[in-house]
Amino acid sequence: MLKNDMLEQWDRESFFHPSTHLAEFARGNVAQRIVTGGTNCHIEDRDGNRLLDAFAGLYCVNVGYGRQDIAEAIAAQARELAYYHSYVGHGTEASITLAKMIMDRAPAHMSKVYFGMSGSDANETNIKLVWYYNNILGRPEKKKIISRWRGYHGSGLMTGSLTGLELFHNKFDLPLSQVIHTEAPYYFRRPDPAMSEADFVAHCVAELETLIEDEGAESIAAFIGEPVLGTGGIVPPPAGYWEAVQKVLEKHDILLIADEVVTGFGRLGTMFGSEHYGLKPDLITIAKGLTSAYAPLSGSIVSERMWKVLEQGTDENGAIGHGWTYSAHPIGAAAGVANLKLIDELNLVQNAGETGAYLNRVMAEAVGGHARVGDVRGEGMLCAVEFVKDRDSRTFYDAAEKIGPQLSAALLEQGVIARAMPQGDILGFAPPFCLTRAEADEIAGKTAIAVKKVLG
Ligand SMILES: Cc1ncc(COP(=O)(O)O)c(C=O)c1O
Repeated sequence: MLKNDMLEQWDRESFFHPSTHLAEFARGNVAQRIVTGGTNCHIEDRDGNRLLDAFAGLYCVNVGYGRQDIAEAIAAQARELAYYHSYVGHGTEASITLAKMIMDRAPAHMSKVYFGMSGSDANETNIKLVWYYNNILGRPEKKKIISRWRGYHGSGLMTGSLTGLELFHNKFDLPLSQVIHTEAPYYFRRPDPAMSEADFVAHCVAELETLIEDEGAESIAAFIGEPVLGTGGIVPPPAGYWEAVQKVLEKHDILLIADEVVTGFGRLGTMFGSEHYGLKPDLITIAKGLTSAYAPLSGSIVSERMWKVLEQGTDENGAIGHGWTYSAHPIGAAAGVANLKLIDELNLVQNAGETGAYLNRVMAEAVGGHARVGDVRGEGMLCAVEFVKDRDSRTFYDAAEKIGPQLSAALLEQGVIARAMPQGDILGFAPPFCLTRAEADEIAGKTAIAVKKVLG
């Protein structure tokens, strides 16, 4: 594209950027980056920089940039049929094929997939389905949703409420009253450092049981969680956590929503995080990795048990009153079909597991010994480094010191994009699945240089 020298100015004057300090951006104090291209794990910007994207956009470009197969599939679909809706039994070859491909990959007890556009709207759908389900079953009082502090489930009204990060609540009058939060399974931040992992799991479960008792199980419909906490800090759960939580949910007849927007389609080295941790969810949220972000598309995968009740509901009440104009958009669906094929052809789920484990190992070797590194953790192609002011007393930095952002800036100077996670001083890494070992070495090596530069 031709370089238009007004673009930077138009950007500051006209563009409302998400998750951005609006005033500082308008004043020119937030750097602009206008991204123009990408290949595999690298992006290019219009200033001629080539950057190793160790966060795959927003952990979504799982197959990597520049995949011509997906671009061709999108172009072919756009030429043939750019749009038709999916209401009242309509569909397209792409959307039906994709639904079949998803169900072939999903856990066996799942039944159907509903398509949306984003992770947020898919979770919005999920909560509506949960409420509908309990209304059909004749228990209209069973409606509250339990989420975890530090969970991330989107930024709509309901989904921003489910998200357990203050930034997404403050001044927005959230969370809504139907949403309640429980302890995050964040072992590094356990309340008492003397706790073993098993003690901490018991603590999380006790907190959950107390919450259910206080609120009344008859008022609680569902529990939503990411298999691995993502935006809240990239935190794999302690061993035994999911097994113990699922026992509690079963006991109280509380549905489980597995939010697999990040973990779905391979990021943990398994097709789904549910498989990885032995989850048996009633609903699975999918988005990002479904199309590797080549086009917006999300989904809610519904279990057979819930599906039966939804069918009963429409027999009693008529067509389900839920749908978006762009549900199952053919261009998104064509991107999804080509993306899932590519993941299989290139064996990317396996690479995510293997190269992800390698990245975690070399990262631990490169920075784990530094006095200001409190924790190096990860699972599959997810890795995080958490920084502390004092390791022995586990004292955290004041947020105003902006240690995380300083570290990500120091990495960027060396041509590597990592994400300063929004709550805590945590560098997050979630590269595309096509990452090579040489690139993993580069990420770890440059992180060590950044840590030395910022923290000595
Ligand atoms: C686990 C999880 N759920 C939901 C969402 C929301 O997805 P979207 O930003 O597409 O609305 C995200 C986004 O990062 C996510 O990580």
